[in-house]
Amino acid sequence: MTKPNLLLDVNDLRVIFKTHDGDVTAVNNLTFALQAGQTLGIVGESGSGKSQTAFALMGLLADNGRVEGSAKFNGEEILNLPKKALNRLRAEQIAMIFQDPMTSLNPYMKVKEQLMEVLMLHKGLDRKTAYLESLAMLDAVKMPEAKKRMEMYPHEFSGGMRQRVMIAMALLCRPKLLIADEPTTALDVTVQAQIMLLLNDLKQEFNTAIIMITHDLGVVAGICDNVLVMYAGRTMEYGSAEQIFYQPTHPYSIGLINAVPKLNEESNTLITIPGNPPNLLNLPQGCPFQPRCRHATAQCVQAPPLRRFDGNRLRACFIPIAEMS
Ligand SMILES: Nc1ncnc2c1ncn2[C@@H]1O[C@H](COP(=O)(O)OP(=O)(O)O)[C@@H](O)[C@H]1O
Ligand SMILES: [Mg+2]
Repeated sequence: MTKPNLLLDVNDLRVIFKTHDGDVTAVNNLTFALQAGQTLGIVGESGSGKSQTAFALMGLLADNGRVEGSAKFNGEEILNLPKKALNRLRAEQIAMIFQDPMTSLNPYMKVKEQLMEVLMLHKGLDRKTAYLESLAMLDAVKMPEAKKRMEMYPHEFSGGMRQRVMIAMALLCRPKLLIADEPTTALDVTVQAQIMLLLNDLKQEFNTAIIMITHDLGVVAGICDNVLVMYAGRTMEYGSAEQIFYQPTHPYSIGLINAVPKLNEESNTLITIPGNPPNLLNLPQGCPFQPRCRHATAQCVQAPPLRRFDGNRLRACFIPIAEMS
């Protein structure tokens, strides 16, 4: 048996933004680890701090933001790296894809030129070799008629195909980690499923670890090893994808799962979680989910500690698991 290989080790990650109304803690003491080749889902409603977690790791926070804590990638601290080291890390080790592929693609350049440029710049390949590798990568992301598509501009592609180009571009330098921030949110359900299957195949083919960020727990169930459920910048629950999906123990995770559309049910109505995520400048006392939680008791105005249970699972909630249903 091979020893699991720790790729990313994040401890007490905090992201704080200075605003006119005071400091906003968008990510609050987040701790997680990722083994090489594994997939971690980070799930939570809009505003939970998912993107800022990714941006913090990539050194992409807005100017009014700062990061605290530690994130070790292959044993090396990557928070607050100098610009040069950061650029190298982003070019060679960690790649990120976004909901909108046009964040990464240039509308005025042929797809071919954009892909080749990455390889010529970061791997020093000549044009011919860069062309062939780019074409091979478009094939790897199952782009139909890849050769013809190489000559086209991004706007000539459908949303799903554009997303494939962005994935190809992200994988060109064979990163050890791919961070995918809501990569399928803008796509229709069928295309969404295709892209998820593709990412799952590519993960095996290239042995890339993936952090899959989404507000939709249904999206991650099939492709993640582990899932971290986030709310108001904090971990609510952590466990294997199966545990979170089939035996969630935190009222917030249970709410998110009930909000996943079920194919075998007649009704199309979703059970959403009543209320809205809190204003980070004016957080409720104690558990941030407490005002929306139907299990909440007087105790929940204290902050529940994140407790380990059942092996590697984590949960921040005072309510006994047996009372969850
Ligand atoms: N530049 C900024 N200045 C102040 N607050 C910010 C800034 N960027 C993000 N935030 C805060 O961080 C919160 C979490 O954002 P984000 O990580 O983007 O959420 P999501 O889980 O939807 O990806 C936002 O709701 C907002 O309050
Ligand atoms: Mg986001």
